[in-house]
Amino acid sequence: MTLVDTPLEESIGRQGAPTSDPALLAWVAEVAALTRPDRIVWANGSDAEWKALTDQLVDAGTITRLQAKPDSFLALSDPIDVARVEDRTFICSVDEADAGATNNWMDPALMKQIMTGLYDGCMRGRTMYVVPFCMGPFDAPVPKLGVEITDSEYVVISMKIMTRLGHKAIELIEAGQPWVKALHSLGAPLRPGQADVAWPCNETKYIVQFPEERAIWSFGSGYGGNALLGKKCYSLRIASAMARDEGWLAEHMLIMKLTSPEQQVHYVAAAFPSACGKTNLAMMEPTIPGWKVETLGDDIAWMTFGKDGRLYAVNPEYGLFGVAPGTGWATNPNAMRTIEQGHSLFTNVALTDDGDVWWEGMTDEPPAHLIDWRGRDWTPSGLDADGNTLASAGSPAAHPNSRFCTPITQCPILADEYADSVGVPISAILFGGRRKTTVPLVTQSRDWQQGVFMGATLSSETTAAATGAVGVVRRDPMAMLPFIGYDAGDYFAHWIDVGKGADADKLPKIFYVNWFRRDADGGFLWPGFGENSRVLKWIVERLDGSAAAVETPIGHVPAPGALDVDGLGLTVEQIEAALAVSPEEWAAEIPLIEEWFEHIGDTVPSTLRDELQSLKLRLGQG
Ligand code: GDP
Ligand code: PGA
Ligand code: MN
Ligand code: MN
Repeated sequence: MTLVDTPLEESIGRQGAPTSDPALLAWVAEVAALTRPDRIVWANGSDAEWKALTDQLVDAGTITRLQAKPDSFLALSDPIDVARVEDRTFICSVDEADAGATNNWMDPALMKQIMTGLYDGCMRGRTMYVVPFCMGPFDAPVPKLGVEITDSEYVVISMKIMTRLGHKAIELIEAGQPWVKALHSLGAPLRPGQADVAWPCNETKYIVQFPEERAIWSFGSGYGGNALLGKKCYSLRIASAMARDEGWLAEHMLIMKLTSPEQQVHYVAAAFPSACGKTNLAMMEPTIPGWKVETLGDDIAWMTFGKDGRLYAVNPEYGLFGVAPGTGWATNPNAMRTIEQGHSLFTNVALTDDGDVWWEGMTDEPPAHLIDWRGRDWTPSGLDADGNTLASAGSPAAHPNSRFCTPITQCPILADEYADSVGVPISAILFGGRRKTTVPLVTQSRDWQQGVFMGATLSSETTAAATGAVGVVRRDPMAMLPFIGYDAGDYFAHWIDVGKGADADKLPKIFYVNWFRRDADGGFLWPGFGENSRVLKWIVERLDGSAAAVETPIGHVPAPGALDVDGLGLTVEQIEAALAVSPEEWAAEIPLIEEWFEHIGDTVPSTLRDELQSLKLRLGQG
C-alpha cells in the first residue's frame, strides 16, 4: 500500500489498542493515516458493544428496532446497494493468467494505486473499527484468522453474527498465526457538520482480492457479500487460492447431517448458486417418516482429507445470511424458528404495523399494510385507504435479495458436530442449479471424474443475489463462478487432482440435482423443500447400493419406482417428466458446454475434454 506521508501521531495514536502486535498495529496505523477516521475503535464482539452499536445505528436511522422480536433490527439499504456486484469484483493476481477467463483482473499495483486514491480520506468524520475474527473454530490446526478494518457499524454487528469475532483472534495473531488483512470502507466521508444518510455508500464500488498477498480491499458498498469480508471474499475467493496451494477445497456448499430410520448417519455437502436452495436444503424438515436432518452449514464448506482418507467438511461461518423471500413456516420452518429467537439483523425486508418483519412467501396472504423495503407505504392492492395508487404498487414489499442475518447457534436443528474443528466425513456431494428444462431431478455420476464434469458444466438461471439480469442461464461451475479466486481451468484440475490422490471408495459420490424444472404451464414439476428428502433418500440408498438406477447418456437416474413417492400425490407421468433425460435437450446443451470450455481456454483439464467427448458419443454425436 502506498503510504501517505503523515506522522502517525498526527493522525491517530495507539492508545486503547488491545495488542502490541507490531504487524497488526502497523497496518492499523497505515490504514488510519490513509483513510483519516475521526477515531479508532477495536471491536471485541461483546454484548455491551452490540448494544452500543445497535443503539447508535437506531439513532442514526440506519436500523429500526423490531417490537415483535427480541433484540432484532431492520436495515433498509440504499437502492443502489442491494446485492453482490460481480462486474466490480476483481481477482488481482500478479499474473493476469492466474485470474483466468471467469474473473475480472487488473494489475495489482495499478489497482492499489486507484484504490489508494479512493481510500484517501474516505473515513473522515467516521469511526474506524478494527474487527478481529476467525473463520471456523479457534482450535483448528491452523485457525483461519482475519482482521477487518471498516467504517461501517452495520458491518461490525453483522460480523459479530457471521464470524467468531473477538479478542481470541488477536491472541492467536500475537502467537504468530497467519491472518488476512481485510480493508473495507463505505466510501462516504463526512465533512464537518455534514449530516449522515441512513445508508452511506458510494456509486463507485470495488471488491478486490489479492490472492498472493491473501489480502482484501473493498470500497463503496455496505451490502453483505461485498462488505462482510470474512464471507465470500475470504472464505471463498482467498480460501480457494489457499486450498489450491495446500491440497484442500473451499466451496460454496451447505453441509447437512442425514439420519435414516435405521439410524445410519450420512453427511452431505451441496453446491447450488446463490438463491438456489442451499439454506432451505440445509435446514429442511423431511416429509418422509423416520428421516432426520440436522444443519452444519448453509453456504460455505471447507473440505480437507482426514487421516482415514475421507474428505471432512467444516463450516467456517458462525451465522446464517439467508434469502428472506420464500422463507416461511410452510417452506423452511427451521429458519423461522431460528429468527424467532431474535438477535437478528434483517436487510431490505418489509416492516409490519406491529413492528415485525414480512416478506413475500412468509405467509400466504400479506398483511393489510406494510412499509416496503424502500420505506414506502405498501398494501396488497397497491391502493391507499382513499383508493389512490401507491408509489409502491406492483412491486414486491421485500427486495428479492433481502436477507436475514442470524446466529447459526440459534438453529434448533444444529448438529452437535458443528463445533468440531475436525469436521464431518462427507458421503455425497450434490451439485445443482435452477433450470426450467433439460436437467433431471437427480443424476448420479459414474465416478469422481464425471462428477467433476457435472460440476464444471453446471448451469443455472441468474438470481437477484447479484446485480444484473435475472433468469438468464449461465454456466456456474460448482456454483463458484463469482467466487473462484484463480483460473477456472486450474480450479477444475485441482478438483481432478483431489480425486486422483484419494482412495476412490472413500471419496464422496457426486450427484447433480435440479429442484426447478418446469412443466408446460410453467409450474414446478417437483414440489421441492421438505419433499427433497425423497431425493436424499434415493441418494443414501445409492451409497449403500440398495436403490435401483438406470443408465442414461448423462449418468444414472432413479429407475421407475426407485424414488420414494409414497403419499406425494404426483402422477407417474409427472415423476417421469421430472426425471426425464431428453436426448434433444442434451444435444442442444453440447454446443453451450463446448463454448464454455472454449471460453475458459487451455487450462481445462484433458480429463474434462474427454468426458465431453464421451458424452457426445453417448448422445450419438461424433
Ligand atoms: P441459497 O441462497 O442457495 O441459500 O438459497 P435459499 O435456500 O435461500 O433459497 C433461495 C430461494 O429459492 C428461496 O426463495 C426459496 O424459497 C427457493 N427455494 C429453495 N428451495 C427450493 C425448492 O426446493 N423448490 C423451489 N421451487 N424453490 C426453492
Ligand atoms: P447465498 O449467499 O448463496 O445464500 O445466496 C449469499 C451470496 O452468495 O451472495
Ligand atoms: Mn452464497
Ligand atoms: Mn443461503
